[in-house]
Amino acid sequence: EKSGYTHFMLKEIFEQPQAILNTFRSRIDPEHGQLCLPELGLSDRDIKGIGRIVLLACGSSWHAALVAKYWLEQWVGIPVEVDIASEFRYRRLLLDKNVLVIPITQSGETADTLAGTRLALKSGAKVVAICNVLGSTITREVHGTLYTHAGPEIGVASTKAFTCQLVALFLLTLYLAQVRGTMASRERLTMIESLVELPVVLERELPGWQEEMERLAEEFVKSRDFLFLARGENFPIALEGALKLKEISYIHAEGYAAGEMKHGPIALIDRDMPVLALVPQNGVYDKVVANVEEVKARHGRLILLGSRGDANIGRIADHVVYLPVILPDLNPILYTVPLQLLAYQVARLRGCDVDQPRNLAKSVTVE
Ligand code: F6R
Repeated sequence: EKSGYTHFMLKEIFEQPQAILNTFRSRIDPEHGQLCLPELGLSDRDIKGIGRIVLLACGSSWHAALVAKYWLEQWVGIPVEVDIASEFRYRRLLLDKNVLVIPITQSGETADTLAGTRLALKSGAKVVAICNVLGSTITREVHGTLYTHAGPEIGVASTKAFTCQLVALFLLTLYLAQVRGTMASRERLTMIESLVELPVVLERELPGWQEEMERLAEEFVKSRDFLFLARGENFPIALEGALKLKEISYIHAEGYAAGEMKHGPIALIDRDMPVLALVPQNGVYDKVVANVEEVKARHGRLILLGSRGDANIGRIADHVVYLPVILPDLNPILYTVPLQLLAYQVARLRGCDVDQPRNLAKSVTVE
């Protein structure tokens, strides 16, 4: 049931604070800054022996994998590869027992992700799935499953399942760092505290974002194209924002690493082209600002999502949405939510079938 919401997608967007809380609650000890993930089925010795991590997924789940690469390499120091499952399954795989393969799938039934997982199992690699559906096919085949506790997701477009995948991957990062001793315990504690704060922040911000995104949607409802830009760990969120918009509103949208603009897409910029960029105040802030200034110089219609208190971005952009300042590592989760709402509001105004977009199925069980 939609519990008073007009669509399942909107309900599921608003369920994110609770879903995120459910995903981390039983796995952390916020007092001592310790994590406990026995469901991985990995001993400390297994974890210390990991030489490489391979993440494997489709669609939004692949975007979650792309974010995790930044986290894992930064905090655990293990090289990470990210593969689209349909690519992974048709090339030579160089896997062995020291590789940890992590398929990420909401449904646990996606054909390409399952096929890739079976290849990984055959190679002798350790395989731990991140999955939302209890007892789904993938969970019965892998060595361990880290469940996202997002609850059932009915809307075809992934929303709470995606942010809960990110939470699960963040927990995994902290846990591997704990076992391998690659992060000071004080730092881990700070990260856990920030994670605990996240549902509170989302709960507080959601109603305001909904209104702001409705206003933005009114202005851009007739756009033909949309460009989403970001850098670093937020770059995959540009991809996710574009995917959400195109799948439910049928507006052509692309996500790009902001630094790639000048290598092609900048040719598209004119007075009709909306460009939305994520510019939180992090290590690559100056770089992204420089990139979006080039958009402005070419008269693109610029929307910036950035840090509350940033006095600079209001001068460059046509529209600014201010988000609270949190631990930078968690920005990919925070910045996803207004982009979901933007896609939702645009699709609704265009009269699209938000929960059941054309040509799409909730789980893709054929190749
Ligand atoms: C996008 C979306 C899809 C899924 C993809 C993978 O909103 O929902 O891109 O993310 O089909 O599905 P799972 O995670 O079930 O393997």
